[in-house]
Amino acid sequence: MTQQDRAKVAAGVRALDTYVRDGMLLGLGSGTTSHWFVRSLAERVREGLDVVGVPTSTATRDLALELGIRLADLNDVPELDLTIDGPDEIDGAGSMIKGGGACLLWEKVVARASRRMVTILDDTKIVSTLGAFPLPVEVIPFGWVSTRGHLARLFADAGLGQVEITNRMRGNELLVTDSGHYILDAHLETIPDVPALAGVLNDIPGVVEHGLFVGIADAMVVGHPDGSADVRSL
Ligand code: 5RP
Repeated sequence: MTQQDRAKVAAGVRALDTYVRDGMLLGLGSGTTSHWFVRSLAERVREGLDVVGVPTSTATRDLALELGIRLADLNDVPELDLTIDGPDEIDGAGSMIKGGGACLLWEKVVARASRRMVTILDDTKIVSTLGAFPLPVEVIPFGWVSTRGHLARLFADAGLGQVEITNRMRGNELLVTDSGHYILDAHLETIPDVPALAGVLNDIPGVVEHGLFVGIADAMVVGHPDGSADVRSL
């Protein structure tokens, strides 16, 4: 296990101890940090913890099932108690870029279906300004080249210049998300006004969702390579 993995595990265990209680309906995030959390959760389930999970990706669904965590379909449950998921970047206001694992659509739907969202991360994910991590935008395959053109114009109109937009690939093919869409990655470098950009991206026809999570996280749990973790309210 790397130092960064130790920090990710520490964040997940601290979140488990601080927020997860018997009887909860839990949104289960995607990505490596969340998968460490799911493994820790499974240990508690084997010890008797009674929770039901709602996964944010087919990968998390498969992992949770393999580890014996009971799952439910989001359509069959009322509001979730809590979602635990990780960011690619997070700023001081708790705004995040997510979607590095191409799961941003289900992640946002599940987070929004939850009374609380707690984000877990290693301390390398904290930034002063979002944007060094390319912003994922999920688009429908139909007319995606046209959608990419609209995106480029939106960035230029927002004063962000000529932004490089790349296709997310899996091997030699365009990556297809769990919902059958493509991902365009916008290399913005810096996002001066995150709420403003988040507010306009979904207006482009063909854009299904974007990876800016603004006002969604209620707390962050930050893990460190020495195995410690701290909790910060947002
Ligand atoms: C997947 C995500 C992940 O939560 C995000 O990429 C963080 O991943 P990791 O914990 O592996 O750094 O948004 O779509």
